[in-house]
Amino acid sequence: MKWISVVGARPNFMKVAPFCHAIEKYNQDNPTAQIEHILVHTGQHYDDNMSKAFFAALNIPAADINFNIGSGSHAQQVGNAMIAFEEVCLQHKPDLVIVIGDVNATAACSITAKKLGIDVAHIEAGLRSKDRSMPEEINRLVTDSISDALLAPDSFAVENLLREGHDPTSIHLSGNIMIDTLDAQLFKAEKLSLPSGLQVENYVVVTLHRPANVDDSQKLAKIVKALADEAGRGIQIFWPVHPRTHEKLAEFDLLSELEENSNIILDQPIGYHELLRLNLSAKAFLTDSGGLQEECCVVGTPCVTLRDNTERPVTLREHGGTNVLATLDTLAQELSRALKTPRKPFRPENWDGHTAPRMVDALIAS
Ligand code: UD1
Repeated sequence: MKWISVVGARPNFMKVAPFCHAIEKYNQDNPTAQIEHILVHTGQHYDDNMSKAFFAALNIPAADINFNIGSGSHAQQVGNAMIAFEEVCLQHKPDLVIVIGDVNATAACSITAKKLGIDVAHIEAGLRSKDRSMPEEINRLVTDSISDALLAPDSFAVENLLREGHDPTSIHLSGNIMIDTLDAQLFKAEKLSLPSGLQVENYVVVTLHRPANVDDSQKLAKIVKALADEAGRGIQIFWPVHPRTHEKLAEFDLLSELEENSNIILDQPIGYHELLRLNLSAKAFLTDSGGLQEECCVVGTPCVTLRDNTERPVTLREHGGTNVLATLDTLAQELSRALKTPRKPFRPENWDGHTAPRMVDALIAS
């Protein structure tokens, strides 16, 4: 049995780690039915702190093949990944291709595999923001529409897939694979110290990178103002800045205002354990990331998501989680409400740290 798994960008890495480890465990337990596993990295994310650092910290085996496609337009990233992946599939003839999440590698490699008649499994199937202006939503729709095995993280995702008419036998409520990583790595994160100067339960962690939030100068200026206002009230802000956002803050002349504020700490993108450590003692999160909505939910940190919609409704307060959506108009109000909200850990069904072995079992059986 030959499987190829594909990753491309940072949010894929914490999801592929437990999957690789579950395959290794399966092979140890089943010496006569081995899975030959090939890991492909499209190279969309390439900076050490966006890629290599996660492979090392999460003990992910080195990618067998890296396309090094790098940055570029969506068509360039998808097109270059498809051309390179076609060669890999023709050479290795896998029985199954596994794609993860909603990045460009996910759509590119699922299309390539299906056009060659190879079965595709999608980890994190069924998430829907219903916002087709998001490139990730297009990647999700395309990938799910052609996948043979749909590995869904929660019951909302299962409902979306059923509503779209997918064969119920192809849908598996496997749980959230990223929480396997969180559970496995928590003990290491807990041993870390907070960055110097940060006070326990007195800081907001900020991660923002969506073009809708950071590419417009007026919007980004409003976000910076809301953060400066909280900092003025004595709340500390810790912001590990995504490369895209750093470029935009510099271009819009907003960096110096942040750098000069003693209650605001800007940093490079940080490692998995470092961010989890920050999460454990944060008063709140402000994010537009998908995965952080889920991690905050499990850890219990109040989370303000600066978006009009979420493909992860299971994390919202009304469904038991800690997450609330905010617009630029409601940002200040939601942030101050989150700062007054107590921590409340919540785990949806099957977010139990055992998702990856469940996925391997489901794929073997299907
Ligand atoms: C991508 C994913 C998004 C995910 C995010 C996490 C898609 C469609 N988007 O968005 O879903 O939430 O990753 O980070 O796949 N850059 C670097 N170094 C790197 C990578 C990127 O400097 O290692 C800079 C480049 O200027 C690049 C920009 O960041 O143009 C954006 O990178 P890109 O991979 O195109 O999209 P992300 O915004 O990271």
